[in-house]
Amino acid sequence: MSVETGRLPSEDVRRMFDRISPVYDLMNRVMTAGLDRRWRRATVAAVVRPGDRVLDACCGTGDLAVEASRAGARVVGLDFSGEMLARARRKSSAVEWVEGDVLELPFEDGAFDVATVGFGIRNVADLDAGLAELARVVRPGGRVGCLEITRPRGLLRPFFRLWFDRIVPLLGKVLPGGAAYTYLPASVRRFPGPEDLAAALERAGFGAVSWRLFGGGIVALHAGTREAGE
Ligand SMILES: C[S@@+](CC[C@H](N)C(=O)[O-])C[C@H]1O[C@@H](n2cnc3c(N)ncnc32)[C@H](O)[C@@H]1O
Repeated sequence: MSVETGRLPSEDVRRMFDRISPVYDLMNRVMTAGLDRRWRRATVAAVVRPGDRVLDACCGTGDLAVEASRAGARVVGLDFSGEMLARARRKSSAVEWVEGDVLELPFEDGAFDVATVGFGIRNVADLDAGLAELARVVRPGGRVGCLEITRPRGLLRPFFRLWFDRIVPLLGKVLPGGAAYTYLPASVRRFPGPEDLAAALERAGFGAVSWRLFGGGIVALHAGTREAGE
């Protein structure tokens, strides 16, 4: 496990996000030319209804959780990085912010109508175990929305490689926690593509899984419904 392979033990992931928390929001805006906000809104629109109990797992600095709260949901945002959560807390007092691990969620079975996770599941040390925990805490018939970076196949591929594999790591050289920006493209390289992520969601207990691509295919939004009896 190393920054170069894009796989890190949980403790290293947590420390890495603690370190980059001061520049995290700014880097998101810069790396996506501000489109990340639109993708988060689309995620909420796809799976969240007013009044839903929503768990936003890997909530980081809280943007997706806040978006779900604005849509009228009762939201819990969970993350294991205290520094990322400290920034989330400043953004909303309507969201309940919880420090915890996705691999061991401190919630009862079926406690939520919806689980969302934005740019987070790729960083969880055990993908299948993380998705299984999300499925456990969503009630049967409830929904999952998973927004994640993916590797484009078409015309954008060469531009994406230049930007993500060359320029982003260079930006990291001048920012705190710069190794994170070597880890980021490496983690995207080893992460399952949309078909395989859909299969992983199905293995975890979600059915009717579908996905949409955004940003010319650099980001995928997967949605699914929690099946009964698992
Ligand atoms: C790239 S950030 C995404 C933040 C936010 N969801 C967003 O849309 O910007 C990934 C977050 O996942 C969190 N994370 C990774 N593994 C985790 C785990 N096992 N349990 C809880 N949080 C985890 C990190 O601390 C980090 O804040």
